[in-house]
Amino acid sequence: MKILSIETSCDETAISIVEADGGLSSPTFKILGNALFSQIETHKEYGGVFPMMAKREHAKKAPVLLKKVLEESGFIKKTKEEYPEEKWCEIEKILEKEIGLYEDFRKNFSDTARPDIDVISVTYGPGLEPALWVGISFAKALGKLWDVVVVGINHMEGHILSVLIENTDKKAVEFPALALLISGAHTEIVEIESWGKYKIIGETRDDAVGEAFDKVARMMGLPYPGGPQISHFAEKARSKSLQARAKFTRPMIHSGDLNFSFSGLKTAVLYYIRDVLGGNENLTDADREDVSREFEDAVVEVLLSKTEKALEQTGAKTLIIAGGVISNKKIRETFMGLETKYEGLSIITPIKDLATDNALMIACATYINTLINPEMLGIQKEIKAKGNLRLE
Ligand code: KG4
Ligand code: ZN
Repeated sequence: MKILSIETSCDETAISIVEADGGLSSPTFKILGNALFSQIETHKEYGGVFPMMAKREHAKKAPVLLKKVLEESGFIKKTKEEYPEEKWCEIEKILEKEIGLYEDFRKNFSDTARPDIDVISVTYGPGLEPALWVGISFAKALGKLWDVVVVGINHMEGHILSVLIENTDKKAVEFPALALLISGAHTEIVEIESWGKYKIIGETRDDAVGEAFDKVARMMGLPYPGGPQISHFAEKARSKSLQARAKFTRPMIHSGDLNFSFSGLKTAVLYYIRDVLGGNENLTDADREDVSREFEDAVVEVLLSKTEKALEQTGAKTLIIAGGVISNKKIRETFMGLETKYEGLSIITPIKDLATDNALMIACATYINTLINPEMLGIQKEIKAKGNLRLE
């Protein structure tokens, strides 16, 4: 199955063409084309992602990226006949809310023949709705132009299935499995009975873990995204074996359930900076190192304690950890230690480029989903953006 996948849920515009094979028991994925544009530079100066700005940037980049993957995959061919005007009318209607996209679309693809693909897939949630709509409209326009079915994919399922393309130790997933999803917008523990059967058994009540990293970094005057910044300062503190000064709470660590809360931890950091360190304008790098290490330790302890509880409750054989925050060295190293503690447990994380948002993970989820529900490929269903779509 050849899949054209599109991802625009947050601040990455990503498109890929993947050839999937092997079925549910041994899926394999060959990357034929892959392109990604990160909007981080645009959002950096505002300290976070602005949905309307993300939308505009996605619309600007989608045609360019598609052209790139079509060329890379060798799928770009000229049409023998021009597309009929009625088709363009329908496409114009599909793209009417995406400023400038119709004109750009027509200019770029009016002479491009239908590529050799079986399905177009697009993330329809969770994420920022204005951003999601760009991907959905773009996918629908392509589906209309080339008469290809378009399917909607859950972004979080994409993160879980990203480990199927390639994972750090080339391990296979065994069921029951567990996924710890840690990103800028989500913190979830998901029980996986088999592919397609998910149950969220723990989640954050307020901030996501990546969001907490970003907010704490901002409090210390560090740029967005804050995760890598905090991680860098924390590593420095550890390498110098500095005496710890700050002490923060481990929120909900004894709550008895699998849920998280990071807003209290964020507030504890805020008060500490304000009351003990004399405000953020007086922070030294030594303060940043100390706060970063203690904050990171608090996060790791809570994540680890809840995940261990979930492992014991479910008897999971595989733990998949995915989402942007798994790039964090301390978190990665700490969790890898669970393999020695729990016999028979294998921990699988995506390779670095697949930890953050990308279109390849959406292609993986498309293959698995269509194997489980082949009828998805039959009739075209209506696809709408769902900002708070849940895995279930
Ligand atoms: O999965 P992702 O790319 O986007 C979402 O879907 O949210 O995750 C982005 C999040 C950001 O909050 C960023 O600060 C965090 O991942 N992150 C990190 C690190 N690298 C990225 N957090 C902690 N340590 C890191 N090294
Ligand atoms: Zn994500």
